[in-house]
Amino acid sequence: MHIASVGVSKICFLFSLAFCGLLLLLIPALQPSVRQVDLPKPRPAQMGTSHRVRVPGDFLHAGDKEIITGPKRSSAGLGKPIKTALGARRTPERGVGGLSEYRSRDKLELKDIFIAVKTTRKYHKSRLELLIQTWVSQAKEQTYIFTDGDDKELQVRTGANIINTNCSAAHTRQALCCKMSVEYDKFIESQRKWFCHVDDDNYVILPSLLRLLSSYHHSQDIYLGRPSLDHPIEAAERVKSDGSVSVKFWFATGGAGFCISRGLALKMSPWASLGNFISTAEKIRLPDDCTIGYIIEALLEVTLTHTYLFHSHLENLQKLPTDTVLEQVTLSYGGFENRRNVVNIAGELSLTEDPTRFKTVHCLLYPDTEWCPKLKPQHKN
Ligand SMILES: *[C@@H]1O[C@H](CO)[C@@H](O)[C@H](O)[C@H]1NC(C)=O
Repeated sequence: MHIASVGVSKICFLFSLAFCGLLLLLIPALQPSVRQVDLPKPRPAQMGTSHRVRVPGDFLHAGDKEIITGPKRSSAGLGKPIKTALGARRTPERGVGGLSEYRSRDKLELKDIFIAVKTTRKYHKSRLELLIQTWVSQAKEQTYIFTDGDDKELQVRTGANIINTNCSAAHTRQALCCKMSVEYDKFIESQRKWFCHVDDDNYVILPSLLRLLSSYHHSQDIYLGRPSLDHPIEAAERVKSDGSVSVKFWFATGGAGFCISRGLALKMSPWASLGNFISTAEKIRLPDDCTIGYIIEALLEVTLTHTYLFHSHLENLQKLPTDTVLEQVTLSYGGFENRRNVVNIAGELSLTEDPTRFKTVHCLLYPDTEWCPKLKPQHKN
C-alpha cells in the first residue's frame, strides 16, 4: 500500500515532467507564426519566376542560389574592406564565382547602365538644363529624370526621358522615398545591368563610371558608393523584429550617387518593388538612401563596397587634386549656401561663365561639343 502510493506519485511526477518538456519543445515551433505579423509582406514580384520568398523561414531564392538572410551578422563583420586598384575598397564576395571568368566574356557598355537622376520641378531650369546640356547628352537613351511635375517643353526641346513620378514636391522623407520607389521599378522594367542613382547637382563622368562597373559583374551582389559617415549607422530593427533590437549598417550617400548590380537589385524586390520601398522606409523611419543601405546590408547581408570616386556637395570639392578630377565617377558643386565649393579645374571658361565647373569638365572630356570654346593652340592648364 505504502509502496504503491509512492509509485503512483512518482509516475505522476514523471508524467508532469514529460508534459512540461513537451510544452518547452513546442514553444519554438509556435513562435514563427507570431513573429510573422511584423514581417514585411512582399507583394507578388512581377519580374519573372526566378524570384520567390518564403517569409517565415527567412530564406530567399534567387535563381539556383540560395541566400540565407536569417541570422544577424555581428557588427564586427561590417566594413573590413580591402583595397583594389580602382581606389575602391571592397569586401570579398560571398559565394560568387570568380571575377576573371566574367571579364573577358562580355564587355560592359554604356547602354547597360540605367542612370536615374532625381530632381524636382523647381530645379528643372536652374539645375537640370545644365545636366542635359552636358553629361546627359552623352547618355540620353539610358538616363531617366525622375521629377514631380510635367515639363512637356523641356522634354520636347531636349528629348530627355523625363518621368513624372506623381510624388509630392516636398523635400520630405516620404516624397524622396516615393521617387526612389519609382526609380527602382523603372530600372527593373528596363532590363539593364546596372542601376545608378544620382542627384540633379551631380556630373557623371561616364567613362569613369563604365570603367568602375566593368570590374564587376552585374549578376554579383554589388552595392557601390561613398559612405556618408565614417561609421555604420545604427537603427531599430523594425522589419525583421519588433524594434527592440538595433541593427548597424553602412549606406551610400545619395547625394554623391551610388550603383547597384541587377543581381542585387532583384534580391531587394520584396522590400523595394511596387511600393514596398515606401513601407520599408516608413518602418525604419529613415531617408531613401539609408533605406537602400538597410535593405542591402541589414536585410540581405551584402556589404557596401566603399568607393571615394563619388562626390556630393557636402564635401570640400576644392580639395580634389586637379589631375584626378576627370578620373572621379561623380562630381558636384556647392549650392546657394556655398557657391565657391566647386572642383578646382581650369579651362577656357571662367568661374562667371561656368560657376559649377561642369561645362569645363565636359569640354575636357568631349572637346568636340559644339558649344565648347575652341581650344587655343596652346592648351593651358
Ligand atoms: C502619373 O500620373 C499620370 C496621369 O495619371 C500617369 O499617366 C503616369 O503613369 C503616372 N506616373 C507614374 C510614374 O506612375
